[in-house]
Amino acid sequence: MAEGLPNRPTTVADYAATMRRRKWFIIGPPVVAGLAAFALSATQSPLYQATAKVLVKRTSFVSAISNVQDPSSFTDPTRFLQTEASIARSPELAARVVAKAAVPGETVVSFLDESRVNPESTADVLDVSVSNRDPGYAERLANIYATEFTRYTTELDTARINETLRTLSVRAKELRAEGAAGSVAYATVIQNQSQLVTVGKLLADNTSVLQQAEEAVKVRPRLLRNGVLGVLLGGLLGVGLAFLREALDRRVRSEHEVNDVLGLAVLARIPSPPRKLRKANQLIMLADPTSIHAETIRKLRTSIEFVNLEHGARTIMVTSAVPQEGKSTTIANLAVSLARAGRRVALVDLDLRRPFLNRFFGVRDRPGITDVVVNRVSLADAIRSIALRPAEASYPEPQGNGRRPPGSATGSNGRSTLNGVLEFLPAGTIPPSAGEFLEHERIGAVIDELGDQFDVVLVDSPPLLSFGDVTTLSDKVDALFVVVSLTVMQRPLLDELGRQLENCRATPLGCVLTSVEQHESYRYLYEAYGYDVRPQPKAEDELRQAR
Ligand SMILES: Nc1ncnc2c1ncn2[C@@H]1O[C@H](COP(=O)(O)OP(=O)(O)OP(=O)(O)O)[C@@H](O)[C@H]1O
Ligand SMILES: [Mg+2]
Repeated sequence: MAEGLPNRPTTVADYAATMRRRKWFIIGPPVVAGLAAFALSATQSPLYQATAKVLVKRTSFVSAISNVQDPSSFTDPTRFLQTEASIARSPELAARVVAKAAVPGETVVSFLDESRVNPESTADVLDVSVSNRDPGYAERLANIYATEFTRYTTELDTARINETLRTLSVRAKELRAEGAAGSVAYATVIQNQSQLVTVGKLLADNTSVLQQAEEAVKVRPRLLRNGVLGVLLGGLLGVGLAFLREALDRRVRSEHEVNDVLGLAVLARIPSPPRKLRKANQLIMLADPTSIHAETIRKLRTSIEFVNLEHGARTIMVTSAVPQEGKSTTIANLAVSLARAGRRVALVDLDLRRPFLNRFFGVRDRPGITDVVVNRVSLADAIRSIALRPAEASYPEPQGNGRRPPGSATGSNGRSTLNGVLEFLPAGTIPPSAGEFLEHERIGAVIDELGDQFDVVLVDSPPLLSFGDVTTLSDKVDALFVVVSLTVMQRPLLDELGRQLENCRATPLGCVLTSVEQHESYRYLYEAYGYDVRPQPKAEDELRQAR
């Protein structure tokens, strides 16, 4: 049996299977995060934002006065606008805006906190935005901010010109007082004055309000946006958690992994029995033999028969690595299926640790094989004939301990409505030391005797890794198959199971996967064969005509 890690590349189907298995991780966090974001946003008080636009021209003081290109005007336009935006954030300007707007409760600090000046990327324009709980105040503050900003920058730009103009007018006054109003010096002063006035006007135009703030828009709370963001972030978190959980989960998930480790063919994939049947200890092959679930058991029957063609085993044992993987249920269903198919079947409960099969058939567990082995009763007296009703009958009745010929399809009441008979040998009186008892040579003899009488003898056994019973029993049967539950099996257990199976003398026929997700088991069942379980109208017509 091959050991080692599976080297099959991960496929999209594997990811999809992980997401399906961890669906609560995938669904839970986005739903919770989305609702939380929505609820938190709903508690926020509303906030409105108004935006005015300010056009910024880049006329340089140097070039305006000298008609020469100012080298500083070659600076990066983005940087220039950024400088203007920084100027707009001056506390002095903010104080002016707050004073002029006279909005109740507004301070310089709160105003600077609630306002923004951002350069547009494609034009020499600054966006001046102000947020406020009142849309009217937001609009008013934004407009006053834009207007005051243009004034403020004009003041800064023309401060030096005004200073020079003041000096020139003092000089002109002095020249007039000296009576030199007609002198060349006076004329030069007057000319310089008029030049500076023109430059001042030019610079005063450097910034202007391009667009007044109109209706303020609600920027908080953004319920939908926050909800969607919450869902997206929650979704990312959920997917991350799902894959983390999967990575930390040592359970065996895929059939390929089982295949790689055990080197056994998968005979069938059987889903969990419906809850109702589980609670009542009923078998699907008896309670609902026409269901798709029962079809997975029939698939197991045909697979076992096919594989067994090569080995010709008459006595077949089931085992699994650990308890509660579905051994008893599977072998009992298989026995019913084989009996319904007309095989002479004996089902033997040799799980002396936890005999269970009798509960499926509603019969007493004593006397049984242990009593036969110690010669307390004869084999024929210990065997119970379970008459199998046709598909619509929900539960079979035990048919006593009669010594009817095996395979008889007639129940004790003589009706011919039976659909096969299953011969069942319960565990019997449980000996104090089950492990030692199984070494009794008569056990092999009883199994061989059954093998001579029946087409197939199916033996239930305890879990392989828990007790040595299976290794002992494997000497006494021809073949075995292993049940592997996909919800129970963990990687180290699977490795150990592989090792222990090597010590078993019986021929391993294959493995049966249990706890397979329903759609997975049914997909294999029908899709692989291009087969539709529903009766096709045409086929039904043909059948009717044939009758
Ligand atoms: N194919 C299946 N998939 C999942 N669960 C199953 C399947 N068959 C049976 N079960 C459930 O698993 C549990 C154990 O079933 P069962 O007694 O058949 O297992 P077991 O391997 O024989 O246990 P034990 O080792 O105790 O004898 C029951 O609740 C049963 O309904
Ligand atoms: Mg069992």
